Amino acid sequence: MFRLDNKIALVTGGGRGLGRAIALAFAEQGADVAVTSRTLEQLNQVADAIRAHGRRALAVECDVSDSASVAQMVQTTLNEFGRIDVLVNCAGVGWAERLAEMSDGTFDWIIKTNLYGTFYCCREVLRGMIERKSGSIINIASVAGVKGVPGLSAYGASKAGVITLTKALAMENTRYNIRVNAIAPGYFRTDMNAAVLDDPEAGPKIIKRIPMRRAGDPKEIGGLAVYLASDEASFVTGEVYFISGGEMAQ
Ligand SMILES: NC(=O)c1ccc[n+]([C@@H]2O[C@H](COP(=O)([O-])OP(=O)(O)OC[C@H]3O[C@@H](n4cnc5c(N)ncnc54)[C@H](OP(=O)(O)O)[C@@H]3O)[C@@H](O)[C@H]2O)c1
Repeated sequence: MFRLDNKIALVTGGGRGLGRAIALAFAEQGADVAVTSRTLEQLNQVADAIRAHGRRALAVECDVSDSASVAQMVQTTLNEFGRIDVLVNCAGVGWAERLAEMSDGTFDWIIKTNLYGTFYCCREVLRGMIERKSGSIINIASVAGVKGVPGLSAYGASKAGVITLTKALAMENTRYNIRVNAIAPGYFRTDMNAAVLDDPEAGPKIIKRIPMRRAGDPKEIGGLAVYLASDEASFVTGEVYFISGGEMAQ
């Protein structure tokens, strides 16, 4: 069960953090994987690790907040692999700032990357999935997309948008046998939040709010993503899966 043999996956934000962990978990379960972000050096390292699992890999540079860049990246992936069975929208930026002090540019940057980026990638990849009447899309949202977290209004709004987009897309595409689900992580230790987790004041406060009293390890997200990508999840669509060390149970 949960094998991804003969599946081709595209993971945005696959150069590091949660996207890297998901890309490697997919390769371990037999998928060929394309990874994309703006940093080719990181992508090449992940592609090498995918090939070490005996799978095909592709590293493609792309800025997900730019629709032309996304269209080109998806075309490059299709030229190499012929189709995309699984899309993981993991590229994202995090930024904590009170809304009253936030500039237009910061708000735009967060929404453009997290929400528009997901929109652009879904749109480009969906066309082929609709033609083939098959596919699985996994959008990486956040606990902050449902909870009110001080400082994360723009980020939370972008992730709430991702959750609603996920549900509506799922409803639009059941007829094409395309499943669309979201994973909403709590705190995981990645570059995105290492600084705040290591901050002597903020770090312990965050950990205290997590029932498991620790941040997640990126390796702990791969299994859920593999499940949602696999044929074992054939009856699962429009769902939001929290993975938060108990934070969402409180
Ligand atoms: N870590 C957590 O605790 C946590 C919690 C909830 C949700 N999430 C979500 O999980 C996802 C991954 O986060 P992470 O923690 O793994 O952060 P990370 O280590 O900073 O990784 C973010 C990834 O997104 C890519 N990215 C950012 N902006 C991009 C753009 N404009 N175009 C293309 N790629 C872009 C980055 O690559 P480049 O910068 O090189 O382009 C990087 O590969 C994000 O959507 C984040 O919001 C994380």
